[in-house]
Amino acid sequence: MRVTMTVNGSPATADDVWEGESLLYVLRERLGLSGSKNACEQGECGSCTVYLDGVPVCACMVAAGQAEGRSIVTVEGLGSADDLHPVQQAFLRAGAVQCGFCTPGLIIVAHDLLSRIPAPTDPQIREAFAGNLCRCTGYEKILDAVRLAAREMSGDSK
Ligand code: FES
Ligand code: FES
Repeated sequence: MRVTMTVNGSPATADDVWEGESLLYVLRERLGLSGSKNACEQGECGSCTVYLDGVPVCACMVAAGQAEGRSIVTVEGLGSADDLHPVQQAFLRAGAVQCGFCTPGLIIVAHDLLSRIPAPTDPQIREAFAGNLCRCTGYEKILDAVRLAAREMSGDSK
């Protein structure tokens, strides 16, 4: 089947999509957007998180056909290498990226959290990341990154 959607603000079409194919597969293998990672393919790790019509979802758990006519935003859509989003910059500056497998999903979730709660408490940050696993960082640097992004985005860069 053909799946037509909007990805990172531009029209995108994938042909010959198998009925059981995931949105994650279409993004990575058909559209060349390898930012979203495939770590578990079971909805457990959050490394594949993307926005679907503005709501963070695990792309590995969304059938590609469900994305027909909808809007997807991946980590590539938040900023570019030359113009990183403040959340992306904060992850780098805080040292919250080690192997990086979890990072794209964490960045989407952090972006969503800060759009809803500009100055989240630590429990709110931890709750937001309840569906995202990181095997490398011990999570403290990730919390630092969100705190830093919150400060930067509020204009308080102290
Ligand atoms: S790859 Fe989708 S939740 Fe792990
Ligand atoms: S940085 Fe390696 S899994 Fe998080």
